Amino acid sequence: MPDYYSYDWISLESASLLPNGRVLVTWPDGHELECHPLWLRENSPGPGGIDPRSKENDLDVAKLDLDTQIKALSVENGGLVVEFGPESRKARFHPGWLRHVADGDHYPFALLPDLQVWTSRDLPEPPTHLGPLVIENDEAFVDWLHDLLRYGLARLVSLPPEDGVVELIGRRIGVLRDSNFGATWHVSVDLDPNSTANTTIGLPAHSDLPSRETPPGFQLLHCLENTVAGGRSTMTDGLAVAQHFEENEPEVMKSLTNDEWVFSNRDGKHDHRWTGPMIDRGDGRVPWTFRAFHPVRGFPAMPPERINDAYFAMQRFGRVANSSDFQIRYDLNPGDLIAFDNRRVLHGRESFDSSEGHRRLRGTYLDSDEVYSRMRVLRHSIHEPGHSLAFSSARKESNA
Ligand SMILES: [Fe+2]
Repeated sequence: MPDYYSYDWISLESASLLPNGRVLVTWPDGHELECHPLWLRENSPGPGGIDPRSKENDLDVAKLDLDTQIKALSVENGGLVVEFGPESRKARFHPGWLRHVADGDHYPFALLPDLQVWTSRDLPEPPTHLGPLVIENDEAFVDWLHDLLRYGLARLVSLPPEDGVVELIGRRIGVLRDSNFGATWHVSVDLDPNSTANTTIGLPAHSDLPSRETPPGFQLLHCLENTVAGGRSTMTDGLAVAQHFEENEPEVMKSLTNDEWVFSNRDGKHDHRWTGPMIDRGDGRVPWTFRAFHPVRGFPAMPPERINDAYFAMQRFGRVANSSDFQIRYDLNPGDLIAFDNRRVLHGRESFDSSEGHRRLRGTYLDSDEVYSRMRVLRHSIHEPGHSLAFSSARKESNA
């Protein structure tokens, strides 16, 4: 097997050599896959192909004979057997592995939930799961991650309001992303306010660390204590805001996606900077990156004649992102943990009065890769061969 997964043995119906030199394999249910001979040769198991120990290709492409052809092929016990020429090499291919390519399950987003864009009408509060169950049970864990990836946010409740819990949950997903705030960090007015987060003022819909080339993918915030007046938390789906501008205010959308700003995040020992538009669509594929945080947006990086329109567009963005049509408000109680896609979902909080209480959160970041990886592995480990990889829980649909 060329990778670490187990695949159903989905027997082939036929294998034939096409006039273009490629191999066409078919299954009884009508699915088919056209395989290029060079791709098959690279992925043939054994030395000079897929190393059985690392499950990685050990063939330097510089040594690949570009004249490689299929000399013979057959279906044996449902699997594909190929003989390559001009070198004399025979290889067997697992039909289930070929099928996962035919089905497109090898693509990065194939095993992840489809994104569900939401407004406050569709999703009045964060999808909520039981924290202790998610810690102990992989099925509950994958359900929570499903909602986190689908909606861009998901909450855990009933966790102990103790230091270390956010690290425990974060490490259950993957490697924490360190920053100049530390691998985990407190949000509290008792701290030196090297960030606006550590004050009592309200924070409009924003994303963290837009001053980095790649801002953190996901953020986890665990509430340890909250006895202040005010300070409700907010969330807005950036994708819904972008959709609104695309459909209703295309000139604003054009500015938000094209006019660039220099974001900078500095203290005595650090100086992070990056230039980008408010809505950074990258190469067009998800994830997009919403760069929205006025305390660290420093300088326009656009032609001077664009600046007026860019300020107007940014103001429209703020008004829509903070409007009750798009933004939800919820209480973050001790023991609650909110996780969200920091590059998609804009978070914030109301101002609060800390004269007669405390509000202490502990947070951490993870790169999106860590969340995606954990989700893929869990889906494979939970769903045994022979069962559909489709999500089974009907409860998730009720969250929509
Ligand atoms: Fe923040």
